[in-house]
Amino acid sequence: MKGIVFDGEELRLVEGLEVRSPQPGEVNVKIVNAGVCHSDVSVIDGTIPFPTPLVLGHEGAGVVTEVGSAVTSVAPGDHVVLSTLGQCGACPSCDAGQPTMCKSTFGARDTPFSLDGEAYYNFANISAFSENVVVKANQAIRIPEDIPLTAASLIGCGVLTGSGAVFNRAKVKPGESVAVVGVGGIGLNAIQAAAIAGANPIIAIDTNAEKSDLAIDFGATDFINATDVDTNQEIRKIRADGVNYVFECVGSKALIEASIGYLDWGGTLVILGVPPLGSTVEFMTVATYLDVTIMGCRYGTSRPQTDVTRICELYKAGKFKLDELVSRVYPMEEIHTLLEDMHEGRLARGVLDVCSI
Ligand SMILES: NC(=O)c1ccc[n+]([C@@H]2O[C@H](COP(=O)([O-])OP(=O)(O)OC[C@H]3O[C@@H](n4cnc5c(N)ncnc54)[C@H](O)[C@@H]3O)[C@@H](O)[C@H]2O)c1
Ligand SMILES: [Zn+2]
Ligand SMILES: [Zn+2]
Repeated sequence: MKGIVFDGEELRLVEGLEVRSPQPGEVNVKIVNAGVCHSDVSVIDGTIPFPTPLVLGHEGAGVVTEVGSAVTSVAPGDHVVLSTLGQCGACPSCDAGQPTMCKSTFGARDTPFSLDGEAYYNFANISAFSENVVVKANQAIRIPEDIPLTAASLIGCGVLTGSGAVFNRAKVKPGESVAVVGVGGIGLNAIQAAAIAGANPIIAIDTNAEKSDLAIDFGATDFINATDVDTNQEIRKIRADGVNYVFECVGSKALIEASIGYLDWGGTLVILGVPPLGSTVEFMTVATYLDVTIMGCRYGTSRPQTDVTRICELYKAGKFKLDELVSRVYPMEEIHTLLEDMHEGRLARGVLDVCSI
């Protein structure tokens, strides 16, 4: 089996990777396409510390090939999107419909892979940059077969995270004002969800001028090129009082701090970006006197079965863009070119062709 592995120093494509057989509650999925999210890059550059060696990737779609003896939710041949959660289904958070708060979904370290007899960790409970993966059955969410797997591959992280921050976490209402900082895979989905929610204005902010057309196509009403301008002043030219919501989709301490200043009284900052572990931020406490709220948001506060199904329905109804998120599809051999294009800001999302169907 082919896979893209990281040993703490080098990222490489290997042959001969093996994955264990599914246990009773698990399934084996052949990955057809995998999206590359900035969190994968953050493992490579150390922003997100993770034990090595590991198989990278956590955003993918494919076909179920084998199911464990206790699995009834999917069957071999089903097309599925993968969720990174793998919630336990039995704790108070799961019971309350908050699987992102299920304690068993974070920090578990499994080594389902091996290469030349050495154990390899999976990343974010998945490792989508491998021809086959073994995941919990509730991580494999069945989707209609007429949804292209290239497009579907992005639902499992970028789409759920960006759109869920707007729909589930912030619950943006019609006419409320929104700014989205960072027009990458996460930010574009926050923008299109804000447009679906009826927000106005929707101000997209990026340091890469080429993101302007994309942002407008996804529903932004304005674009601010944050290079060499005072972003706060530019926002206030559009809405003098500042905005009701800012979604930080870069993962920068400086931008999180600046974003609090973009808010109107009573506004909400939703932090999606993941700065280096241990980062701290400073803000003027007068913000709290003006009823400002600062929210974290893990994985779009998603309920994967519900949200993946809804996104697929919206896509089929022509109301949610997925194909437009796929800037280019690369063979696994070209992962370094993909990362370079991502770094240069040329991509909405870069997608890997992992296996043919
Ligand atoms: N909270 C979660 O559950 C969750 C899930 C997935 C990803 N993330 C995080 O979200 C962040 C974004 O991920 P992505 O995949 O969209 O990244 P990406 O690389 O696709 O996009 C980042 C965008 O930010 C822009 N940018 C960089 N510096 C900027 C600046 N100073 N001002 C304005 N824009 C700037 C880039 O030009 C790019 O368009 C990362 O930190 C990632 O780890 C969080
Ligand atoms: Zn991700
Ligand atoms: Zn649970």
